[in-house]
Amino acid sequence: SPSDPDLVERARAAKERLGDKVFVLGHHYQRDEVIQFADVTGDSFKLAKDAAARPDAEYIVFCGVHFMAESADILTTDDQKVVLPDLAAGCSMADMATAEQVAECWDVLTEAGIAEQVVPVSYMNSSADIKAFTGKHGGTICTSSNAERALEWAFEQGEKVLFLPDQHLGRNTAVRDMGMSLDDCVVYNPHKPNGGLTAEQLRAAKMILWRGHCSVHGRFSLESVEDVRARIPGVNVLVHPECKHEVVAAADHVGSTEHIIKTLEAAPAGSKWAIGTELNLVRRLANRFAPEGKEIVFLDKTVCFCSTMNRIDLPHLVWALESLADGKLVNRIEVDRETEQFAKLALERMLALP
Ligand code: 13P
Ligand code: SF4
Repeated sequence: SPSDPDLVERARAAKERLGDKVFVLGHHYQRDEVIQFADVTGDSFKLAKDAAARPDAEYIVFCGVHFMAESADILTTDDQKVVLPDLAAGCSMADMATAEQVAECWDVLTEAGIAEQVVPVSYMNSSADIKAFTGKHGGTICTSSNAERALEWAFEQGEKVLFLPDQHLGRNTAVRDMGMSLDDCVVYNPHKPNGGLTAEQLRAAKMILWRGHCSVHGRFSLESVEDVRARIPGVNVLVHPECKHEVVAAADHVGSTEHIIKTLEAAPAGSKWAIGTELNLVRRLANRFAPEGKEIVFLDKTVCFCSTMNRIDLPHLVWALESLADGKLVNRIEVDRETEQFAKLALERMLALP
Protein backbone atom coordinates (compact mmCIF):
# COMPACT_ATOMS: atom_id res chain seq x y z
CA SER A 1 0.00 0.00 0.00
CA PRO A 2 1.33 3.49 -0.78
CA SER A 3 2.46 5.20 2.45
CA ASP A 4 0.99 8.51 3.56
CA PRO A 5 3.76 11.08 2.79
CA ASP A 6 3.02 13.01 5.97
CA LEU A 7 3.48 9.89 8.12
CA VAL A 8 6.62 8.94 6.22
CA GLU A 9 8.10 12.35 7.01
CA ARG A 10 7.10 12.09 10.67
CA ALA A 11 8.66 8.63 11.01
CA ARG A 12 11.85 9.88 9.36
CA ALA A 13 12.00 12.97 11.61
CA ALA A 14 11.36 10.98 14.81
CA LYS A 15 14.04 8.47 13.87
CA GLU A 16 16.47 11.28 13.20
CA ARG A 17 15.72 12.86 16.60
CA LEU A 18 16.41 9.51 18.27
CA GLY A 19 19.64 8.93 16.32
CA ASP A 20 21.77 6.08 17.69
CA LYS A 21 19.43 5.64 20.64
CA VAL A 22 17.04 3.59 18.54
CA PHE A 23 17.56 0.37 16.58
CA VAL A 24 14.64 -0.74 14.41
CA LEU A 25 14.31 -4.42 13.51
CA GLY A 26 11.89 -5.58 10.79
CA HIS A 27 10.73 -9.14 10.06
CA HIS A 28 10.36 -10.03 6.37
CA TYR A 29 6.56 -10.30 6.72
CA GLN A 30 6.18 -6.62 7.67
CA ARG A 31 4.44 -4.13 5.41
CA ASP A 32 6.54 -2.11 2.91
CA GLU A 33 5.54 1.12 4.67
CA VAL A 34 7.16 -0.23 7.86
CA ILE A 35 10.11 -2.16 6.42
CA GLN A 36 11.48 1.02 4.81
CA PHE A 37 12.36 2.25 8.33
CA ALA A 38 14.04 -0.95 9.52
CA ASP A 39 17.78 -0.71 10.23
CA VAL A 40 17.97 -4.46 9.66
CA THR A 41 15.53 -6.95 8.20
CA GLY A 42 15.54 -10.70 8.53
CA ASP A 43 13.82 -13.94 9.39
CA SER A 44 13.36 -14.77 13.04
CA PHE A 45 16.79 -16.41 13.36
CA LYS A 46 18.68 -13.49 11.84
CA LEU A 47 16.73 -10.98 13.93
CA ALA A 48 17.43 -12.92 17.14
CA LYS A 49 21.14 -12.61 16.38
CA ASP A 50 20.89 -9.01 15.18
CA ALA A 51 18.98 -7.88 18.29
CA ALA A 52 22.18 -8.09 20.33
CA ALA A 53 24.27 -6.31 17.69
CA ARG A 54 23.73 -2.77 19.04
CA PRO A 55 24.20 -2.91 22.84
CA ASP A 56 24.54 0.88 22.83
CA ALA A 57 20.97 1.42 21.56
CA GLU A 58 18.61 2.32 24.39
CA TYR A 59 15.51 1.34 22.45
CA ILE A 60 14.94 -1.66 20.20
CA VAL A 61 11.77 -1.08 18.20
CA PHE A 62 10.67 -4.50 17.04
CA CYS A 63 8.53 -4.54 13.91
CA GLY A 64 7.35 -8.11 14.11
CA VAL A 65 5.24 -10.08 16.57
CA HIS A 66 5.18 -10.48 20.36
CA PHE A 67 7.32 -13.62 20.69
CA MET A 68 10.08 -11.97 18.64
CA ALA A 69 10.07 -8.89 20.88
CA GLU A 70 10.27 -11.16 23.95
CA SER A 71 13.24 -13.00 22.46
CA ALA A 72 14.92 -9.66 21.71
CA ASP A 73 14.40 -8.60 25.34
CA ILE A 74 15.94 -11.87 26.54
CA LEU A 75 18.97 -11.52 24.27
CA THR A 76 19.71 -7.82 24.94
CA THR A 77 21.07 -6.12 28.06
CA ASP A 78 18.87 -5.16 31.03
CA ASP A 79 19.29 -1.48 30.19
CA GLN A 80 17.88 -1.86 26.70
CA LYS A 81 14.16 -1.49 26.25
CA VAL A 82 12.29 -3.45 23.61
CA VAL A 83 9.20 -1.80 22.14
CA LEU A 84 6.45 -3.49 20.10
CA PRO A 85 4.55 -0.74 18.22
CA ASP A 86 1.19 -2.54 18.63
CA LEU A 87 0.69 -4.85 21.61
CA ALA A 88 -2.01 -6.75 19.71
CA ALA A 89 0.62 -8.11 17.31
CA GLY A 90 0.64 -11.66 18.67
CA CYS A 91 0.92 -14.98 16.86
CA SER A 92 -1.89 -17.50 16.75
CA MET A 93 0.61 -20.36 16.56
CA ALA A 94 2.49 -19.25 19.66
CA ASP A 95 -0.85 -18.97 21.48
CA MET A 96 -1.55 -22.66 20.75
CA ALA A 97 0.88 -23.76 23.49
CA THR A 98 0.35 -22.28 26.96
CA ALA A 99 2.64 -22.89 29.95
CA GLU A 100 -0.15 -24.78 31.74
CA GLN A 101 -0.83 -27.09 28.81
CA VAL A 102 2.86 -27.85 28.36
CA ALA A 103 3.31 -28.59 32.08
CA GLU A 104 0.36 -30.98 31.83
CA CYS A 105 1.93 -32.65 28.79
CA TRP A 106 5.15 -33.18 30.74
CA ASP A 107 3.11 -34.93 33.46
CA VAL A 108 1.62 -37.21 30.79
CA LEU A 109 5.12 -38.05 29.50
CA THR A 110 6.28 -38.67 33.07
CA GLU A 111 3.38 -41.02 33.70
CA ALA A 112 4.12 -42.92 30.51
CA GLY A 113 7.65 -43.36 31.92
CA ILE A 114 9.40 -41.57 29.05
CA ALA A 115 10.02 -38.00 30.30
CA GLU A 116 13.67 -38.76 31.00
CA GLN A 117 14.25 -39.77 27.39
CA VAL A 118 12.54 -36.69 25.96
CA VAL A 119 14.34 -33.51 24.87
CA PRO A 120 12.08 -30.53 24.17
CA VAL A 121 12.74 -28.53 21.00
CA SER A 122 10.66 -25.39 20.75
CA TYR A 123 10.19 -23.29 17.68
CA MET A 124 11.10 -19.64 18.08
CA ASN A 125 7.38 -18.97 17.52
CA SER A 126 6.48 -19.61 21.16
CA SER A 127 6.04 -17.51 24.30
CA ALA A 128 8.94 -16.83 26.69
CA ASP A 129 7.23 -19.22 29.16
CA ILE A 130 7.53 -22.10 26.70
CA LYS A 131 11.14 -21.19 25.98
CA ALA A 132 11.80 -21.24 29.74
CA PHE A 133 10.17 -24.68 30.04
CA THR A 134 12.44 -25.83 27.20
CA GLY A 135 15.56 -24.47 28.89
CA LYS A 136 14.64 -26.03 32.23
CA HIS A 137 14.22 -29.47 30.67
CA GLY A 138 17.51 -29.49 28.78
CA GLY A 139 16.10 -28.50 25.41
CA THR A 140 16.81 -25.94 22.72
CA ILE A 141 14.97 -23.40 20.60
CA CYS A 142 15.03 -23.67 16.82
CA THR A 143 13.87 -21.55 13.92
CA SER A 144 12.89 -22.60 10.43
CA SER A 145 16.53 -21.95 9.38
CA ASN A 146 18.13 -24.39 11.81
CA ALA A 147 15.46 -26.94 12.73
CA GLU A 148 17.46 -29.83 11.30
CA ARG A 149 20.59 -28.95 13.27
CA ALA A 150 18.48 -28.51 16.41
CA LEU A 151 16.89 -31.95 15.99
CA GLU A 152 20.26 -33.57 15.33
CA TRP A 153 21.55 -32.01 18.53
CA ALA A 154 18.46 -33.10 20.47
CA PHE A 155 18.77 -36.71 19.33
CA GLU A 156 22.36 -36.69 20.63
CA GLN A 157 20.99 -35.72 24.07
CA GLY A 158 18.03 -38.11 24.22
CA GLU A 159 15.98 -40.69 22.38
CA LYS A 160 12.80 -38.69 21.78
CA VAL A 161 11.87 -35.11 20.98
CA LEU A 162 8.85 -33.12 22.12
CA PHE A 163 8.48 -30.54 19.34
CA LEU A 164 6.54 -27.35 20.18
CA PRO A 165 4.30 -25.79 18.95
CA ASP A 166 4.36 -26.21 15.13
CA GLN A 167 3.55 -29.79 14.16
CA HIS A 168 4.33 -29.06 10.49
CA LEU A 169 7.86 -27.75 10.98
CA GLY A 170 8.52 -30.68 13.32
CA ARG A 171 7.14 -33.30 10.94
CA ASN A 172 8.68 -31.79 7.81
CA THR A 173 12.12 -31.59 9.38
CA ALA A 174 11.96 -35.11 10.82
CA VAL A 175 10.67 -36.76 7.66
CA ARG A 176 12.10 -34.65 4.86
CA ASP A 177 15.49 -33.72 6.30
CA MET A 178 16.23 -36.51 8.76
CA GLY A 179 14.81 -39.56 7.04
CA MET A 180 12.33 -40.52 9.75
CA SER A 181 8.99 -41.98 8.75
CA LEU A 182 5.56 -40.51 9.35
CA ASP A 183 4.99 -43.42 11.74
CA ASP A 184 7.81 -42.17 13.96
CA CYS A 185 5.67 -39.07 14.68
CA VAL A 186 2.62 -38.74 16.94
CA VAL A 187 0.54 -35.61 17.53
CA TYR A 188 -0.16 -34.49 21.09
CA ASN A 189 -3.50 -32.68 21.30
CA PRO A 190 -3.57 -30.43 24.38
CA HIS A 191 -7.37 -30.36 24.27
CA LYS A 192 -7.73 -34.10 24.84
CA PRO A 193 -7.03 -36.15 27.97
CA ASN A 194 -3.46 -37.51 27.79
CA GLY A 195 -3.04 -35.58 24.55
CA GLY A 196 -5.30 -38.12 22.84
CA LEU A 197 -2.47 -40.69 22.97
CA THR A 198 -1.95 -43.99 24.75
CA ALA A 199 1.18 -44.68 26.78
CA GLU A 200 2.16 -47.30 24.13
CA GLN A 201 1.93 -44.73 21.35
CA LEU A 202 4.09 -42.32 23.33
CA ARG A 203 6.67 -45.02 24.06
CA ALA A 204 6.86 -46.03 20.39
CA ALA A 205 7.19 -42.48 19.02
CA LYS A 206 10.44 -40.69 18.25
CA MET A 207 8.85 -37.31 17.57
CA ILE A 208 6.01 -36.07 19.77
CA LEU A 209 4.55 -33.17 17.82
CA TRP A 210 2.48 -30.51 19.54
CA ARG A 211 -0.81 -29.91 17.76
CA GLY A 212 -0.11 -26.32 16.66
CA HIS A 213 0.09 -24.74 13.23
CA CYS A 214 0.40 -21.42 11.42
CA SER A 215 -2.92 -20.18 10.10
CA VAL A 216 -1.18 -18.38 7.23
CA HIS A 217 1.03 -21.21 5.92
CA GLY A 218 -1.62 -23.81 6.78
CA ARG A 219 -3.79 -22.43 4.01
CA PHE A 220 -1.62 -23.67 1.17
CA SER A 221 -2.88 -26.99 -0.15
CA LEU A 222 -1.80 -29.73 -2.50
CA GLU A 223 -4.39 -28.33 -4.87
CA SER A 224 -2.67 -24.92 -4.92
CA VAL A 225 0.57 -26.66 -5.96
CA GLU A 226 -1.16 -28.65 -8.71
CA ASP A 227 -3.01 -25.54 -9.93
CA VAL A 228 0.08 -23.43 -10.26
CA ARG A 229 1.98 -26.21 -12.07
CA ALA A 230 -0.89 -26.43 -14.58
CA ARG A 231 -1.08 -22.65 -14.97
CA ILE A 232 2.67 -21.93 -15.28
CA PRO A 233 4.62 -24.68 -17.07
CA GLY A 234 8.16 -25.03 -15.72
CA VAL A 235 7.38 -23.22 -12.47
CA ASN A 236 9.55 -23.92 -9.40
CA VAL A 237 7.48 -24.31 -6.25
CA LEU A 238 9.26 -22.96 -3.15
CA VAL A 239 7.49 -23.15 0.22
CA HIS A 240 8.09 -22.43 3.89
CA PRO A 241 8.40 -25.49 6.20
CA GLU A 242 5.39 -24.29 8.23
CA CYS A 243 3.26 -25.60 5.33
CA LYS A 244 1.53 -28.98 5.62
CA HIS A 245 3.57 -32.09 4.91
CA GLU A 246 1.72 -32.89 1.67
CA VAL A 247 2.48 -29.38 0.36
CA VAL A 248 6.15 -29.61 1.30
CA ALA A 249 6.35 -33.09 -0.25
CA ALA A 250 4.93 -31.76 -3.54
CA ALA A 251 7.17 -28.66 -3.63
CA ASP A 252 10.53 -28.40 -5.40
CA HIS A 253 12.28 -26.44 -2.63
CA VAL A 254 11.61 -25.77 1.04
CA GLY A 255 13.11 -23.13 3.31
CA SER A 256 12.81 -20.33 5.81
CA THR A 257 12.07 -16.81 4.63
CA GLU A 258 15.77 -15.95 4.54
CA HIS A 259 16.42 -19.09 2.47
CA ILE A 260 13.60 -18.17 0.08
CA ILE A 261 15.19 -14.76 -0.52
CA LYS A 262 18.68 -16.25 -1.10
CA THR A 263 17.24 -18.83 -3.52
CA LEU A 264 15.55 -16.11 -5.57
CA GLU A 265 18.66 -13.94 -5.56
CA ALA A 266 20.60 -16.85 -7.06
CA ALA A 267 17.87 -17.85 -9.55
CA PRO A 268 18.63 -17.36 -13.27
CA ALA A 269 16.83 -14.75 -15.39
CA GLY A 270 13.77 -16.23 -17.06
CA SER A 271 13.04 -18.64 -14.21
CA LYS A 272 9.53 -18.89 -12.78
CA TRP A 273 8.66 -19.27 -9.12
CA ALA A 274 5.54 -19.88 -7.05
CA ILE A 275 6.18 -19.01 -3.41
CA GLY A 276 4.27 -20.41 -0.44
CA THR A 277 4.79 -17.91 2.35
CA GLU A 278 3.36 -14.63 3.64
CA LEU A 279 2.09 -12.23 1.00
CA ASN A 280 3.89 -8.99 2.01
CA LEU A 281 7.19 -10.77 1.43
CA VAL A 282 6.12 -12.46 -1.81
CA ARG A 283 4.89 -9.18 -3.32
CA ARG A 284 8.09 -7.40 -2.32
CA LEU A 285 10.18 -10.16 -3.92
CA ALA A 286 8.04 -10.16 -7.07
CA ASN A 287 8.61 -6.40 -7.48
CA ARG A 288 12.29 -6.62 -6.65
CA PHE A 289 13.11 -9.40 -9.11
CA ALA A 290 10.76 -8.50 -11.98
CA PRO A 291 13.37 -6.18 -13.62
CA GLU A 292 15.81 -9.14 -13.67
CA GLY A 293 13.28 -11.18 -15.64
CA LYS A 294 12.36 -13.53 -12.79
CA GLU A 295 8.66 -14.26 -12.61
CA ILE A 296 7.44 -14.67 -9.05
CA VAL A 297 3.85 -15.47 -8.09
CA PHE A 298 2.04 -16.21 -4.87
CA LEU A 299 1.29 -19.92 -4.48
CA ASP A 300 -2.37 -19.53 -3.59
CA LYS A 301 -5.21 -17.82 -5.45
CA THR A 302 -6.55 -16.04 -2.39
CA VAL A 303 -4.69 -13.37 -0.40
CA CYS A 304 -2.80 -14.60 2.61
CA PHE A 305 -1.33 -11.91 4.88
CA CYS A 306 -0.45 -12.60 8.47
CA SER A 307 -3.05 -10.42 10.20
CA THR A 308 -1.02 -9.94 13.36
CA MET A 309 2.20 -9.05 11.51
CA ASN A 310 0.09 -6.52 9.61
CA ARG A 311 -1.01 -4.83 12.83
CA ILE A 312 2.31 -3.02 12.83
CA ASP A 313 1.48 -0.27 10.36
CA LEU A 314 2.97 3.14 9.72
CA PRO A 315 0.65 5.00 12.18
CA HIS A 316 1.70 2.64 15.01
CA LEU A 317 5.38 2.95 14.11
CA VAL A 318 5.15 6.76 13.99
CA TRP A 319 3.39 6.80 17.36
CA ALA A 320 6.06 4.58 18.95
CA LEU A 321 8.99 6.53 17.49
CA GLU A 322 7.55 9.96 18.35
CA SER A 323 6.73 8.83 21.90
CA LEU A 324 10.29 7.58 22.41
CA ALA A 325 11.73 10.76 20.91
CA ASP A 326 9.60 12.73 23.41
CA GLY A 327 11.06 10.64 26.25
CA LYS A 328 7.92 8.52 26.77
CA LEU A 329 8.54 4.79 26.92
CA VAL A 330 5.53 3.02 25.40
CA ASN A 331 4.62 -0.62 24.72
CA ARG A 332 7.68 -2.06 26.43
CA ILE A 333 7.98 -5.86 26.26
CA GLU A 334 9.74 -7.13 29.35
CA VAL A 335 10.22 -10.76 30.33
CA ASP A 336 10.48 -11.40 34.09
CA ARG A 337 13.87 -12.45 35.47
CA GLU A 338 13.22 -16.09 36.23
CA THR A 339 11.56 -16.77 32.90
CA GLU A 340 14.33 -14.88 31.18
CA GLN A 341 17.06 -16.91 32.87
CA PHE A 342 15.74 -20.28 31.61
CA ALA A 343 14.53 -19.01 28.25
CA LYS A 344 17.98 -17.56 27.65
CA LEU A 345 19.55 -20.93 28.35
CA ALA A 346 17.41 -22.47 25.59
CA LEU A 347 18.09 -19.60 23.17
CA GLU A 348 21.83 -19.74 23.82
CA ARG A 349 21.82 -23.47 23.11
CA MET A 350 20.31 -22.62 19.74
CA LEU A 351 22.85 -19.88 19.04
CA ALA A 352 25.66 -22.33 19.90
CA LEU A 353 24.43 -25.06 17.48
CA PRO A 354 27.17 -25.98 14.99
P1 13P B 1 10.93 -17.48 9.79
O1 13P B 1 11.14 -16.04 10.08
O2 13P B 1 11.80 -18.34 10.70
O3 13P B 1 11.08 -17.86 8.37
O4 13P B 1 9.46 -17.87 10.28
C1 13P B 1 8.35 -17.41 9.64
C2 13P B 1 7.30 -16.99 10.55
O5 13P B 1 6.20 -17.47 10.51
C3 13P B 1 7.58 -15.95 11.49
O6 13P B 1 6.46 -15.71 12.23
FE1 SF4 C 1 2.47 -16.63 13.63
FE2 SF4 C 1 2.12 -17.65 11.19
FE3 SF4 C 1 1.90 -15.05 11.55
FE4 SF4 C 1 4.31 -16.21 11.70
S1 SF4 C 1 3.02 -16.05 9.88
S2 SF4 C 1 3.46 -14.68 13.11
S3 SF4 C 1 3.72 -18.20 12.62
S4 SF4 C 1 0.57 -16.65 12.45
